[in-house]
Amino acid sequence: MDYKTIQNLASQTGSPFYLVDRQKFEQNFNDLTAAFRSRWSPFILAYSYKTNYLPYLCGIVRDKGGWAEVVSRMEYDLALKIGCDPKKIIFNGPVKTAADIELALENGSMLNVDSQSELQIVTEYADQHPGRQIPIGLRINIGLSDAAGTSHIQNSLKTGRFGLDPKIINSELITKNSKLQGNNLKVISLHGHTSTTDRSQWCFEVITKTLCETAEKYFPDTVKMINVGGGFFGKMHPDMPFTDTPSFDDYAEVVSGVLQNSDWAQTKKPTLIIEPGVAMVADAVSFITRVVSVKSIRDKIFVTVDGSAFNTKPTFHAINMPHAFIRKSVEGPEQTFDVVGSTCMEKDILLKDITTPIPQPGDFIRIDSIGAYTLVMTPPFINPAPAILADEGGGNYKLVRKKQTLEEIFSNYIM
Ligand SMILES: Cc1ncc(COP(=O)(O)O)c(C=O)c1O
Repeated sequence: MDYKTIQNLASQTGSPFYLVDRQKFEQNFNDLTAAFRSRWSPFILAYSYKTNYLPYLCGIVRDKGGWAEVVSRMEYDLALKIGCDPKKIIFNGPVKTAADIELALENGSMLNVDSQSELQIVTEYADQHPGRQIPIGLRINIGLSDAAGTSHIQNSLKTGRFGLDPKIINSELITKNSKLQGNNLKVISLHGHTSTTDRSQWCFEVITKTLCETAEKYFPDTVKMINVGGGFFGKMHPDMPFTDTPSFDDYAEVVSGVLQNSDWAQTKKPTLIIEPGVAMVADAVSFITRVVSVKSIRDKIFVTVDGSAFNTKPTFHAINMPHAFIRKSVEGPEQTFDVVGSTCMEKDILLKDITTPIPQPGDFIRIDSIGAYTLVMTPPFINPAPAILADEGGGNYKLVRKKQTLEEIFSNYIM
């Protein structure tokens, strides 16, 4: 994309702005689906809304036959608002009120119970509706410590906090609560999403195995869905400091291999569900920001832009994301500088120690592969949330979110 095109877009939406690549997003959906469905069918891809709930993207998934995976009432209501079939919504998450749970059950959504408190609510609901079948899912807590004792759970936590301890399923839920084995409450899905440090195939092998074994042992006749969750690496930009990450085919091979080796799965042919977020959207969004000033302080050069690290990496990780300089005119000699953001925080550094000709005020910097956990985690900190454009191909750009206004930000404050 050349300088003129970007300047033109920025003059319409304001700078900075996000740019969504529709084709890449659709391709990720197609490639993930092909990798898994060619190895195990039936198969469902449920897009993780929390990763990037831009309605434009959620609508693409809906239109392509994917499901919605939500973790809060806000996300659940969004899925309904954009016209998702409630029966194609998976409702996860650790905090659901009795009203949320009842709504999901009334609507026939796939509710995954995360705690015994939730199970209590579901059981009471089943008691109140004796004539109806109430299908539910259980989120199973997965242990991911390897033979060396190293835990692969996010932040190397020994024990993750989501879902039900498999031990409890054995002792309390089944033996003390006969409801789970019959009557009108039926466990039709087991869910095992676990956020990991390494997104490795081994983790998916353990998750799939644990779910199949739990199904076979406790719910052999009722479980119809095995949901391994998300947590896959996406396609990696060549400038990212990760090499040799598993491909979609690599993940699908491992998961389907476990299913094929399970007598229970071979007989019952459960539907395989995945809930990708990062793998769908990370590489499909870029951020474009304009250079405002260049200054030299002592030995250091700072290029200040109108965007912020809050827009590109709200977790403030140390990686320089892939980027490109889109300049108006001729480049000068190479120098080393930091690209720093529009907020008043010293740590608002979008790119550190970059060596290239210094961009000039008015030039643009495009930061790529920032689609996951950015838009949804960007508060209106100091500046309003930027506009979002979708590149629909053939030179067509569609505004899919307007730049936030002062009135919008403060509309629910009492003045
Ligand atoms: C239940 C659930 N499903 C899916 C995901 C998506 O994970 P990722 O974006 O790593 O694919 C998450 C993320 O934490 C999650 O909590």
